[in-house]
Formats: sequence, C-alpha cells, structure tokens
Amino acid sequence: MPALDQALRAALDARENLLSELHTQGTDCYRLFHGTQEGSPGLTVDRYGPQLLVQSFHEPLEHDALLALTKQIRERLGLPLLLVYNDRSNSHSRIDRNPELHQAEAAALEDLIGQEWGLNYRVRGRHAGQDPLLFLDLRNARGWVKANAAGKTVLNLFAYTCGVGLCAAAGDAREVVNLDFAEGNLAVGRENAALNSTLPTMQFIQSDYFPAIRQFADLPISSRRGQKLPSYPRLQPRQFDLVFLDPPAWAKSAFGTVDLLRDYQSLLKPAVLATAEDGTLVCSNNLAKVDIDDWRTQVLRCAEKIGRPVRDCQMLAPAADFPSLDSKPPLKTLILRF
Ligand SMILES: C[S@@+](CC[C@H](N)C(=O)[O-])C[C@H]1O[C@@H](n2cnc3c(N)ncnc32)[C@H](O)[C@@H]1O
Repeated sequence: MPALDQALRAALDARENLLSELHTQGTDCYRLFHGTQEGSPGLTVDRYGPQLLVQSFHEPLEHDALLALTKQIRERLGLPLLLVYNDRSNSHSRIDRNPELHQAEAAALEDLIGQEWGLNYRVRGRHAGQDPLLFLDLRNARGWVKANAAGKTVLNLFAYTCGVGLCAAAGDAREVVNLDFAEGNLAVGRENAALNSTLPTMQFIQSDYFPAIRQFADLPISSRRGQKLPSYPRLQPRQFDLVFLDPPAWAKSAFGTVDLLRDYQSLLKPAVLATAEDGTLVCSNNLAKVDIDDWRTQVLRCAEKIGRPVRDCQMLAPAADFPSLDSKPPLKTLILRF
C-alpha cells in the first residue's frame, strides 16, 4: 500500500525534532502515526518503550501493509521494536485476537516497561481491557502536573492506571490520592508505583466517582427514584490543592451517568467544591464533537454559578504527535485557578 507508506514517511519526517526532544526528556512512549489526521483514518501507530502498537479501528490492516509499516519504523528509529497488532474494527471496538491477522511473538506480549517524563510505566500489549495502559495524548497534562504539584495535596479522579498521580508524586506533591472504580486499573497503578520505587507512596481509593466526590464536597448522596444504592467507601469531607478530572466520554453506574456531551456539570460541580479556595482544577473533555469554546463557557459558567469564579483559565493542548489540521484536538484540557 504505497499511499500508507508515503503517509507514514511524512508523519515520521514531521516528528523528527519532537522525537529527539522526547528522548532527551526521558520519554519513549509516543504516537508515530495519527491516521485520522495524517492520511489513513482509523489507523494508529504508537511506540510504548520496546513495543510497537498498531491499532486499526475501521478495517483490518492487510498483513503486507503491516509488515511494511513495521519495517519502515524499525529502520527509521534504528530499533528492533516488538510488534503488537490489535484490530479493533469489530463492533464495540473489541480487540480481534484472530491470529491470522498477525501472531505477535511471545516477547512482544510480555510485561514491558515504557518511559514518560523520566518515569516508568507498565506496558502490556494484551490485557483484560481494550485500551493501552497509558493514554498518550494526555502526556502534556501529566507533564504540567509534574511541574506544578510541589507541596500540594492532589486528587486524581478517574485515575485509570494512575499516570497523573505518579507525575504528582514525582513532582513532590505532599499527598496523592488516586480514585477509580475499577480495581484492575488501580492494580496497574500500584504496579506503576512499584516501577518507580523511589517516589513517595500514593493512596488508592476504589470507589464510584459520584459518592466519593460528593462526600469530599460535603454534598448529599441521593439515589435515583429512591432505589437502594450499592455500598461505597465512607470518606470525610475535604478539599485538595490540585484536582485532576479526566473522565471517560460516557459511563453509567448505579450512582449516576458520566456524560461529557450532555451533562459535564454533574461531574464538574462536586469537583470544584472539592478543590481548595485558592486551588487548581485541571479538567478535560475528550469528545471530538464538543467544541472547545462552548465547553469552556459552560465550565466557567458552572463555577461562577456555585460561587467559585475562576481567576485564571488556561488551555493545554496535546503534543505534536497528535496533530490536528483544524487546531481542534478531541482532547481538550483546561487549567482552572480559583
Ligand atoms: C478514560 S479513563 C481515564 C483516563 C485517566 N484519567 C488517565 O489519566 O489516563 C476512564 C477511567 O474512568 C473509570 N471510571 C469510569 N466510570 C467511573 C465511575 N463512575 N467512577 C469511577 N471511575 C470510573 C474507568 O475505570 C477508567 O479507569
């Protein structure tokens, strides 16, 4: 597929400076090809340390094209990267483990280690979940946390594998609390902590977002239509100096619905109230169809309405390995200072 060959060559050319910058800062996890914006919609190619992760979201990649792409990258980077190919073009983007598409060598599927901002992260080509264990477009936000967490108490919401918490700990935070309802994700967070054993210890809370954040914010926990709620960990009301809110696009639980399109306020309001008076809230919205200007207006209005007007609002964009032709990257991050 010469068109893909050419598109990949252009993508690698465009990243030359970025890659040497990333290598210098201790990062070997990054996107090498962002298909939607670089000429092959639905195809992504990422480096995770020693691993090359190719993912297709619209249609499977032909075997020859996969091998040609791998060869070109190995030659350009001068590294024998271990190939894992995950076809996610089936419905619900489940990973197709069909060995006819590509049979990864055993070494590629072992537990590996990648680096970002000088920190170690667990890399696993195949695991119980669908997504890689580190979301690469959030790298700049993690870097911001590392540079701005010193002396602070930090609450990492929807923590997933706790990359944000790890950066806070590496940035000399006074206390780091990671919160997620999925024990499997927090378990990888614990592995990540163990891979960086010189860092101060972090806390991990396995809980649904809604009861946890509402307790921190000292708000009541209500059930829908009087239904009995599942049990949840009891937490004391408190505020944090730095709160990081990076939710999924949509998720439903017995306690409420995460819906970044229709109802960001339900997530934001308690998170603002759990942020200290002169603290900082970093919040994100990864839905491409949400416009940054509309969302920013909504966020600022919500804070104002609950009596916590934002003193300063800064936008943080993903790095150049996630190019966006219209300057409207799906992942939008706001740093709100109160
Ligand atoms: C897209 S990931 C968030 C990415 C993460 N902030 C990071 O730094 O990589 C979504 C996470 O939200 C968690 N999650 C989804 N709904 C939740 C809820 N209602 N309460 C707590 N965690 C939830 C999932 O378990 C998953 O770890």
